[in-house]
Amino acid sequence: MEKLVITGKTHLKGEVTISGAKNAAVAILPATLLIDGICTIDNLPNISDVKMSCKILEDLGAKITWNTPNEITIDTRHINKTVASEELTRKFRASYYMIGSMLGRKGAITVGMPGGCKLGARPIDQHIKGFEALGATVEVSQGKITATASELTGTSIYMDVVSVGATINVMLASVLAKGTTVIDNAAKEPHIVDVANFLNTMGADIRGAGTDVIKINGVEKLTGNSTYSIVPDQIEAGTFMLAAVASQGDILIKNCISKHLESLTAKIIEIGGQVEDYGDSIRVKMDKRPSKATIKTLPYPGFPTDLQPQMGVTLSIAEGTSRIIESIWESRFQYTEELNKMGAQITAQGKTAFFEGVSSLYGSPVYASDLRAGAALIIAGIIAEGKTEVYNLEHIDRGYENIEEKFRKLGAKIERVEE
Ligand code: UD1
Repeated sequence: MEKLVITGKTHLKGEVTISGAKNAAVAILPATLLIDGICTIDNLPNISDVKMSCKILEDLGAKITWNTPNEITIDTRHINKTVASEELTRKFRASYYMIGSMLGRKGAITVGMPGGCKLGARPIDQHIKGFEALGATVEVSQGKITATASELTGTSIYMDVVSVGATINVMLASVLAKGTTVIDNAAKEPHIVDVANFLNTMGADIRGAGTDVIKINGVEKLTGNSTYSIVPDQIEAGTFMLAAVASQGDILIKNCISKHLESLTAKIIEIGGQVEDYGDSIRVKMDKRPSKATIKTLPYPGFPTDLQPQMGVTLSIAEGTSRIIESIWESRFQYTEELNKMGAQITAQGKTAFFEGVSSLYGSPVYASDLRAGAALIIAGIIAEGKTEVYNLEHIDRGYENIEEKFRKLGAKIERVEE
């Protein structure tokens, strides 16, 4: 078993370059199944969720060439299976994007029930509602999802909840459908725009991504023959912004889109941080303990739930008592128990947690319950006095490329060791 051993307390200083967005990559890779041709994807984050997506594509008949660790060429001309590996699809959430893509490409697919971070109930009713509205039949039984359609026909679909996954999945299923599909009450996250841009580059006709009404005019075929560069990871950038604040450091975050981080930037300024916005890079500086704040997670452009644990660490050492309301996921405060082992004073109940700020955290063995909780615990180890050991690295490796290397370059004393 691997663990990260971190010796604090460090003020992080220097530059970090952000990788391509995990949540865009894990949707764009399945989206290549809609292409009957060859395409190249670069700025691809080299993380385990991406490698698993590639394995599923290869199993379905795609040919993948790794040109560099962050660029691949995918040939999807010979997709010859409609049953995806259950073992692989169960391992992460985004495997459900195979459903929308394969419905479009082959009119049939069976996948294992998608896995992913345990953040509470993760229903997929809105995905199914969208597929059925387009004319598909969806059956969920014995831990498997089977979707079939002899033809998909464009229609109007109103999403009952704002869902990133359902918006993307229905968009994927609509690209090759007959006629026009309108998704109303769509999610607006930057990676939804990125998936739409990718598909349009390959020949689709999608308008309105990034607003709450997306219109997809079905096309006959996606031909590929293009290279697409994945958008920078907004959540990774936000993780380093909060690491700068929590560690009272000074970090220049390069290759990010500051527009995607406005809700976080506003909060960082509110708690006393300094933010210099250069458009494609952001410098964050902090020279004192943060002040208290109230945070409520919301769909984009609200404060992202995927930055809530990293903000939680930051507020655990703030002056005064802060409050976080988690409105997207029902059990996203598991990390607070680990922070309490490090001396934090956090009380979490249901969707609300109170953070009574302490002057310092102290090193301890801690366990990552999920991906972003893992990132938060790394920040906690960096700002804590003494030695912290972070376990369950498989969660962190699913979504952060070279995370310890990036933190080490900023001055953190962090090593990955085999136990
Ligand atoms: C995606 C992100 C995840 C992030 C989340 C919210 C990926 C791979 N993962 O997850 O990191 O935390 O967005 O920004 O992109 N819901 C339903 N029915 C559905 C679908 C969702 O009720 O059919 C509910 C969920 O329970 C949740 C809310 O809608 O309360 C938002 O979920 P959704 O946006 O779908 O999250 P994911 O796409 O799974």
